[in-house]
This record gives sequence, structure tokens and C-alpha cells, in this order.
Amino acid sequence: MYYPEELIEEVRQKNDIVDVISGYVGLQKKGSNYMCCCPFHGEKTPSFSVNRARQIYKCFGCGEGGNVLTFVMKYENCTFPEAMKILADKAGVELPQAEYSEEAKRRESRRQKLLEINKAAATFYFYQLRTERGAKAREYLDKRKLSEETRKNFGLGFAPTRGEELLAYLHQKGFTDELIRDAGLAKMDEKRGTTTQFWNRVMFPIQDINHRVIGFGGRIMGDNDSGPKYLNSPETEIFDKSRNLYGMNYARTARTGNIILCEGYMDVISMHQAGFTQAVASLGTAFTLGQAGLIKKYTKDVLLAYDSDGAGVKAALRAIRILRDAGMSGKIINMSPYKDPDEFIKNLGQAAFQERIDHAENSFMFEIRMLERDYDMNDPEEKTNFHNQIARKLCDFSEDVERENYIEAVAEKYHIGFENLRKLVVNMAAKTGGYAVTVTQQPKSGIQSRNKNTPEEKVKNAQRLLLTWLTDYPQLYFKIKNYISPEDFTVELYQKVAKRMFEDIEQNRLNPAGIINMFEDEKDQSEAASLFTTKLPELETDQEKEKAFHDILVSVKKNSYEYYSAKSGVDISALSKVIEGRKALEELNKTHISLN
Ligand code: UTP
Ligand code: MN
Repeated sequence: MYYPEELIEEVRQKNDIVDVISGYVGLQKKGSNYMCCCPFHGEKTPSFSVNRARQIYKCFGCGEGGNVLTFVMKYENCTFPEAMKILADKAGVELPQAEYSEEAKRRESRRQKLLEINKAAATFYFYQLRTERGAKAREYLDKRKLSEETRKNFGLGFAPTRGEELLAYLHQKGFTDELIRDAGLAKMDEKRGTTTQFWNRVMFPIQDINHRVIGFGGRIMGDNDSGPKYLNSPETEIFDKSRNLYGMNYARTARTGNIILCEGYMDVISMHQAGFTQAVASLGTAFTLGQAGLIKKYTKDVLLAYDSDGAGVKAALRAIRILRDAGMSGKIINMSPYKDPDEFIKNLGQAAFQERIDHAENSFMFEIRMLERDYDMNDPEEKTNFHNQIARKLCDFSEDVERENYIEAVAEKYHIGFENLRKLVVNMAAKTGGYAVTVTQQPKSGIQSRNKNTPEEKVKNAQRLLLTWLTDYPQLYFKIKNYISPEDFTVELYQKVAKRMFEDIEQNRLNPAGIINMFEDEKDQSEAASLFTTKLPELETDQEKEKAFHDILVSVKKNSYEYYSAKSGVDISALSKVIEGRKALEELNKTHISLN
């Protein structure tokens, strides 16, 4: 859905950021800002600040920032159109309806019908669990220690032995046999007519991320019952098993910063009951790239809580590769001595599981550890083969620093000399065309962090500071406009912001929150917000402030001068920037700019 900019602005302006954010978290007024603990990262002292005048928020801890729309997107984990809808509804703004083609309308109404029928079936099963006939199912759920709240939360139900009753219920609601079949709830054949898919099973409705029932899993209750342990709905027009995850409708707002991927429905349910609402599971089929993509919308941090048996390990190794293909990192939760999270939590409880989460194993180290099981370390030849296999896997890291870190970690854990392993990796890469051929530098330990003191960071900071100054004192712009232009902001995104900001000030309508809407990407929005909220030095007198402002201005101008000087050899247009820059710098040195 495409919305015109004016409409986006209208929705934004009609939703005061302080009011909206207060609806989600408790804000406290502090000076001209409102503060609270950041809802986007764990912290104990508040560094999340909301500014009413500018209609933006910013966390000085994790760097998140933006306007009311980006806040809702981030908090609700939703898309831009969804955030527009939420805020438009709040403010009573009517959004235009999308124009659908006849074909699209027909498809949409069929999808609606299939969703309705699934919902009706879920209601039926839910009710059956509470009837006399449901006693056996209730006993089963008691035995599995599921509370009433959990049962309600997941809409658990019971499919009675006589399937006719579901059919009668759905007929009475006006659904035809064909539709019941297309929803995956029954089969039709000449001999037996319409027969239901599920009978005498505990029912687990499967919901999409919007809490709509799209299918079911049904479990037998006794070991002697016939059929597979779990029976699932077949794939239908609304039930795509490769793009949905059980529990994702709750996990998406869990705000834990990670997702725990389990094997089974029961694992997800017991984890949620124990407070781990970030748990999800695939739907009776193996984990897919589509599911990885779904998770990636919320977090890149995935913890695997697969069964500890052979099949579980195999499935985990497979999932790790899929996560890696999707550009995510996985960690493995050690479940021993239990088989799965459900058993683990029942026996050792919530705190013990949290500890296992905290100590989850890096997926690469897990892969190597599993690889080791295939080799006899007492046999020199097998040992060599094992080392070669490790080297082969290490070649897959394309980043030098990352690869070096892993070489270091593996060398230490498996008692291989660091230099030896490194040589092995380089040779292997030369043979197989891996990435490691160019390895030259010494290993560095730890992850490279963003260094605040690099020349680039200093330049960026000066440019950010200048834009924040202008947000605070827009009238200053008119005093410096002869010296500075958007091109002096050498970071591309900053340049875009500066251009728009200068235009807005000229027209006396400076609007930081609106500028953030220029960007679609979340990272860009945060980065743009940081331009209006950089921490200015706390200075007392105007004189001190004027000096600080002057220094920042000169620093930005000087960098720009150097930047274009470096380019002028290859780029003619840069030369005029250089000449203009030198002149401006000379003049600035002689000029006093007062704040008032
Ligand atoms: P498990 O056999 O590990 O089941 O299968 P579970 O979740 O631990 O269930 P409980 O604790 O025995 O009740 C894991 C998942 O594989 C699918 C289901 O999605 C199940 O949750 N599965 C398993 C089937 O689809 N059919 C089966 O017959 C068995
Ligand atoms: Mn189980």
C-alpha cells in the first residue's frame, strides 16, 4: 500500500509522540525530555529519551531512534503500513482503501472464508475440551502439567471421536462440504462421503503471526491409540507450512532480543508457560529458509533447543546451515540430561533453563564438536583428517577477523597450535579456492567494536553535532549559510538530511520527525534521528557555547575541504568545492558568530 507523504505527515502529526509512547511504557518528565528504560534493549537506568518539541525519541544506550511511526513499527514488530493503520485508527484519520481487482477480491474473500472456517473449528474443539466427553483430553493435559491459562492462551481443544458433530456444527454455520475439505478439515470420497481429518485427539490450533488460525496439529492421547502421534492439517491456500512457525504470534512481541527454535508444539507450550515466550517451532516439517526469513524480521539471534537425540542433532546441524544461509547466527542450547525443553523444564525448572540459554554454544563450535564424534582421536591418521575437516570449514568464513577469531578458538579448544592450524587453513583455501588465501594479519581477540576514536568517527560526530546545533538553534543557519552547504556533510545520509533541513529552515517549517520519514530503512531512520539528538556539550555561558559551535563548524568545513581536495585529482567538480572551502575557512577564522 502506498501512502502519499502528506497523509503520512497527517497521521504522524495527529499522534503526539509522548502520548503514544506513554501508552506503551511509563515515561517520566526530566527537563524538557521524557525518560524511561529503553524498551528495545535491557537496561536498569533510563537512557531512552522522548522529545515532545521535536517529536522524536532516542536511546543513548543502544542508539535506537526515530519518530512515532518508527516507534510503533519497532515496538509492535510490524510493517510501515501496519503502523500507519494503528496510528490512523488512534487519531481517527481515514486511510484510503486499496483498489482490488475482481480476481484479487475473489481470492481475498475465499481466504477470508477459509480463515473463518478454521476459526469456527477451533471454537468447536475448544468447547469440546470443556464438555463431559473432553474428560480424557483434560486428564491428558493435566498429566502434561498445562495450566488453564496456557490452554486458553494456545486455544487447545479436543476433537471428539464422532466426526459428524464437527461437520454438523460447520454446516449449521453455513459452510459447505467443499469448503470444509479445502480448509483441510475433512476428506471426501465416493464410498464414505465426507470424513473429518481429526478425531479423538487433543487439538493444537496453529496460528499465523496475526493470531489467525490457519491449521491444526492433533495429538493422540494414549500410546495404544492408532495413527501417527501427531496428525497435522494438510497445506491449504492459507496454510503454508514453510512460512509459518508455531508460537510466532506471541514470540514476535516477546522483546527478549532472541528467538528459541524448538522441535515440537509441546516444547513451545511448556517454554511459554515457563515464561520463555520467544519459543517457536516448525510445523511437523523440517525448518526452512522461509521460516528463517520470518524470524529474521524480528531478530538475527536464534537459539536452537532441539532434541538431544541423534535425530535432534541432525536436525540442528541442518537448521544451523539454513540460518547461516539466511545471514543469521545460531546458538545451541544444551538439553542434557533431558531429551527436550519440555522435559528439561518439568524437571529442572525455569531458572536452570535460563542458565542453559546464557551458556548456549556457538553454532560453529557445536558443528566441530559433532564432527569430532566421527573420528578416533587416538588414531593419528584420523586425527589428521579431523584437523583437515576443521580447516576446510574454517575456509568458509569470508571475513578475515572472524576467521582468525575462530581459528584461535578452535586451536585452543582442540589443542592444535594456532600457527599450524592457520597454515592448514591457508593451504586448504589455496587448494579449494576458499577465502583465507590473503590472510596476513595477526589474530585479534574478541569482536571488533565500533571505535569512537577513529578519524572517520570523529568526522561523523562533528557533522552530527552541527546538525543537532541547528535543530536547537535554527536561526543560526542564517548566520552560517554563506559558509556551509549540504555537500559539506560528506556522509551520504547526513547530506540528505542537511539538504532537507536547510530547505525547511529557509521556509520556517523545521520538522525533525518529518525528516525521518524520508528514509525507509530502519537503520537509516535511527541514524537520521541521531542527527537531531547528539549530546551537545553542557556549557554554561553563551561565550563558551559560541566557541564550541564555532569549533564544530570549522571542523566540518575543514574535513569537507580535505575530502574534496583528495578527490580533486580525479573529479573536476571537487575543485570548485576546494577553492570555495579554503575561502570559507579563512573567513570563518576571522568571524565571530553569536548565538542570538
Ligand atoms: P516429537 O516427537 O519430538 O514430539 O515431535 P513432541 O513435540 O516432543 O511431543 P510430545 O512431547 O511427545 O507430545 C516434534 C514435532 O514433530 C511433529 C510435530 O510437529 C511435533 O511437535 N510430528 C511428530 C508430527 O508432525 N507427526 C508425528 O507423528 C510426530
Ligand atoms: Mn516432547
